[in-house]
Amino acid sequence: MDKLWAGKSASELDALTDKFNRSLPFDKAMFKEDITGSMAHSAMLYAKGIISESDYLKITEGLKGILSDIESGVLTFDGGEEDIHSFVELTLTKRVGEAGKVLHTARSRNDQVALDLRMKLRSDAEKIKELLKKLISAFVNKAEETVDYVAPGYTHLQRAQPISFGHQLMAYANMFLRDLERVEDCLKRINVSPLGSCALGGTTYDIDRFMTAEALGFSRPCSNSIDGVSDRDFVAELAFVNSLIMTHLSRFSEEYILWSSFEFKYVDLDERFSTGSSIMPQKKNPDVAELVRGKTGRVYGSLMSILTVLKGLPLAYNKDMQEDKEGIFDSVETVKICLEISAEMLAVTVFNKENMYKAASRGFINATDVADFLVTKGLEFRNAYKITGRIVRECIAMGKTLEELSMDEYKNYSPLFDEGIYTAIDLTKCVKDRTSYGAAGFDSVKKQIAEMREIIK
Ligand code: ARG
Repeated sequence: MDKLWAGKSASELDALTDKFNRSLPFDKAMFKEDITGSMAHSAMLYAKGIISESDYLKITEGLKGILSDIESGVLTFDGGEEDIHSFVELTLTKRVGEAGKVLHTARSRNDQVALDLRMKLRSDAEKIKELLKKLISAFVNKAEETVDYVAPGYTHLQRAQPISFGHQLMAYANMFLRDLERVEDCLKRINVSPLGSCALGGTTYDIDRFMTAEALGFSRPCSNSIDGVSDRDFVAELAFVNSLIMTHLSRFSEEYILWSSFEFKYVDLDERFSTGSSIMPQKKNPDVAELVRGKTGRVYGSLMSILTVLKGLPLAYNKDMQEDKEGIFDSVETVKICLEISAEMLAVTVFNKENMYKAASRGFINATDVADFLVTKGLEFRNAYKITGRIVRECIAMGKTLEELSMDEYKNYSPLFDEGIYTAIDLTKCVKDRTSYGAAGFDSVKKQIAEMREIIK
């Protein structure tokens, strides 16, 4: 197969080296970006009087044809070209003749590949933003639906305090909102144009890098040509942002799996998002949540991979950098599908109010409120805590809940107790009274929901 760099070397490339060296099998994913970038480059070359009008017109027509032929499937990638840049340029020259050969004036594959990758990851990041918004909406909608569900809040996976279940869901909405902000921030650094950095040192041609940057929707051209071709920080950044999204999805998946277990039964798995067992007829498995949790591994893997590829690389371009693409492409595709399916699964999930309430009722989850009651009667918190500890210990021994203790029994622990204790430990009241900003109470959660809706609007 023809090489763009043919002419330098006398001998044919070893077949294994050829296979090893090629990136077309995966960088073909950037065909649109490569062609769009070339169109902007040739328009600039023409505007600056570097190429003729007739060459410019032939190049533009040729590139348009290549784009539509790839999109319609007429033109395929099975010719054995080295990479997408070679593929487009060689096809163009085949189609429009000598004009195709002027396209690469004042450009190198080094700035071209950086350009293509930035453009591709820019649109991927936009898509991820959209999917994050959908997921946040799904959490907000479910939180609204379950705002008056009393559930146990946990620490150490031990029942800790009663909360509105919507509060738990809004915690996830907040995580994904931070992810959304991180994608937006990362986009600022993705969106800088390396085009015109050429091989590494810029060019002696009178090019206009601001013109191509603007035409391709970048905020500006990068200000150092060596940095332009050797910077892959934006890949590592997106790989990290994706990894943190997966961390959050995975934490949610883990809870979802627990909630769907027989032991919790907060969720009855929807048939569309679970599978049965081939041998145990009673089973419904939370495969979707498990797969999301499992796929977190490969997304972390891409982050490790790009960091390791970049570590110790001398400036500027090195072929090692060809290893930047497969990992981040996989990371992006994985995150996209995981975001989408998690949002859909959540949207059809029916949470079981009764079972949550039951779980909240038997774990001495309102013990803090017993202590707080004594504090309102004038006792120091530490002493109130000690008395409550004894009550709980003895209740467990007797197999009783705090609600089941008689007034006489309470009085035995402290004369400060009166009938008011029963209202104080009522679960619904306990939740209702959590009114501090950002708290787990019904009204607080409603405020959070309204605020979040406003933010993602
Ligand atoms: N296929 C290469 C890559 O993905 C493109 C850049 C090649 N540049 C070079 N001087 N060999 O990184």
